[in-house]
Amino acid sequence: MPAKKTPSPKPQAARGKPARIAPGSTAPTSEKPMTVLAGKPGDIGGLVSVKIDDLDIKVPFGTTILEAAKTVGIRIPTLCYHEDLCLAGVCRICVVEVAKQRTLQTACTFPVTEPITVNTTSQRVRQARRHVLDLILSKHYGECYSCFRNNNCELQSLAKEYGVDFFRFGHPDKPRFEVDRSSYSVVRDMNKCVLCRRCVRTCIDLQSVGVLTAAHRSEKTRIETFEDRPLADVICINCGQCINRCPTGALRAKDPSDEIWAAIDDTEKHVVMQTAPSPRAAIAEEFGFEAGTSMTGEMNTALRRAGFDMVFDTNTTADLTIIEEGTELLTRLYKALVKKDEAFVPQFTSCSPGWVKFIEHFYPEYLPYMSSCKSPQQMFGTLIKTHYAQKQNINPADIVTVSLMPCSAKKFEANRPEMRSSGYKDVDYGLTTRETAQMIKEAGINLPQMPKSHFDLPFGDASGAGLIFGASGGVMEAALRTVVEVVTGLKAEQVFADANVIPVRGFEGVKYMEIKVPQTGPMLDLFKPLIKKGKLGKDWTWLKGATLKVAVAHGTANARKVMEDIKTGGKFADCHFIEFMACPGGCLGGGGQPIPTSPAIRAARAKAIYSEDMGLAIRKSHENPHVLKLYEEFLTDGPCGEVSHKYLHTHYTPRGDYLV
Ligand code: SF4
Ligand code: SF4
Ligand code: SF4
Ligand code: FES
Repeated sequence: MPAKKTPSPKPQAARGKPARIAPGSTAPTSEKPMTVLAGKPGDIGGLVSVKIDDLDIKVPFGTTILEAAKTVGIRIPTLCYHEDLCLAGVCRICVVEVAKQRTLQTACTFPVTEPITVNTTSQRVRQARRHVLDLILSKHYGECYSCFRNNNCELQSLAKEYGVDFFRFGHPDKPRFEVDRSSYSVVRDMNKCVLCRRCVRTCIDLQSVGVLTAAHRSEKTRIETFEDRPLADVICINCGQCINRCPTGALRAKDPSDEIWAAIDDTEKHVVMQTAPSPRAAIAEEFGFEAGTSMTGEMNTALRRAGFDMVFDTNTTADLTIIEEGTELLTRLYKALVKKDEAFVPQFTSCSPGWVKFIEHFYPEYLPYMSSCKSPQQMFGTLIKTHYAQKQNINPADIVTVSLMPCSAKKFEANRPEMRSSGYKDVDYGLTTRETAQMIKEAGINLPQMPKSHFDLPFGDASGAGLIFGASGGVMEAALRTVVEVVTGLKAEQVFADANVIPVRGFEGVKYMEIKVPQTGPMLDLFKPLIKKGKLGKDWTWLKGATLKVAVAHGTANARKVMEDIKTGGKFADCHFIEFMACPGGCLGGGGQPIPTSPAIRAARAKAIYSEDMGLAIRKSHENPHVLKLYEEFLTDGPCGEVSHKYLHTHYTPRGDYLV
């Protein structure tokens, strides 16, 4: 398809600043573990014999001792190691004895390349680990009972496991560092930092942001930001991925629950909760259940009992987003292909606030390519304080909107100055899944024992398309289910088996798909205002035989790869629509989700989301009756009309790539 506008490549160096991540960099991503192919015994690629604590096993050449031990159920303690991250080998808690090696070796970094004998529990090993722990604790200022990681802290668990009953090298009795509370999303308390550098590797390797570094040397080593500035003043995208991988309470999200309790206790206030799809597939983890246990109905009851006046489903505005964003895409394509005017294609999704901040910092020249649609969270907030307030005859000043999100960047998004189109702050508070679980516990409620209940109307019946927004590829799949039906007149099930768009699902860092438009169908009445304005034609014949090219990227390191490809006019510059999500795995791997995280945990959450979608009666956004009613009652000049532009669309802010 011709007539697209792609800005000329503009390398960072051309703007007088060095590129920090080389284009095409192969930053490791969580979803692609290193695999060693089987080959001849003894060769690279072959199997090697290892004796671990008297157990004889064979492992592929290059397997680390840590991984080898796992295969036979031997657990070696770790602290700086994380499944999602490249190896660092800095904490030395995983030391083991390897026969013929003079010193103890770190199991997480030692590759098995020849037959070896390993002892993981000798007295020498246990003493060394205890020594490492004592050294860490001599610098660790923290009182577990006042720490958000109490009962879910890797340092605390290690101290228990190794029977730490006194502090051999002392223990700080007062904090050394000021806690950085400057960010809307992340609180940094370096008094609890164990210098494992997981946050540094997360920020650089998984997110390709690089806002954190290990500064200074030896005793003085500290995790710092650029020029040691407050986090709010540097290019942090608020994704919270560092929180999810921090083993201690050194990093946490900024918790607004005290303000929310105050609103709940204030009888004048009408406190409305909206709940995103991913938390419901994960909140059970906070109550000891396995990842992938869905507790949607129980969660609704628990939230009402905790004091929320209304519990709505954000998936309703996810459906609304699809109508608005899909329409925006079709009008851009019409402009480019039929009118031969300048149009910003590919269109980029805009519902991930971490991605929004990423592009604002690193690729501001591409902001016109962003969909102008607000995220479902923000659309919801605006609707509650306008349409809902009018219908319920409630003064919007007395409404407090809270959103349960898997995301710490949503807190930043809610505080953006442009997110006040209702005349008030559209979303008052963003709560993470972890913080919501804590509020439920604080209210004395045992979530799993709650009877199931439905969301409240009129925002309570969303489609499965809205639900799958929680997984990487979900926005694209939801959009394709609708766009394909609207344009071809065929049922999505005729184009994709069971309406499941498999190529955009899963955890491959970047996914790509082409869809041929086999036929065109009739134009929906919904689009009449746009036809009148010349933004769409009377029919879809101009799309007949066209090939729609789409892509999906999750984790901003993968987003960067796609953006660098677009800059050089590569394959992704030819796409029409690209979904970007800041977090690995999409929202289900968001920075506000339960800790820990791993590829297996994210896969289990995804499974829960997709199976809930399969069980729903309505699985396409344009069939959601509440959304269609909104267009009749409130957004009366249709999708992408003036009313929807006033309330549901936004603009973006170009930012610097070192400081905000
Ligand atoms: S970080 Fe862990 S060990 Fe430190 S105070 Fe918090 S819970 Fe306790
Ligand atoms: S929130 Fe994201 S961008 Fe900010 S420091 Fe953490 S990982 Fe980096
Ligand atoms: S802040 Fe957390 S993740 Fe980062 S180095 Fe310190 S303990 Fe490790
Ligand atoms: S876990 Fe092996 S050195 Fe830290």
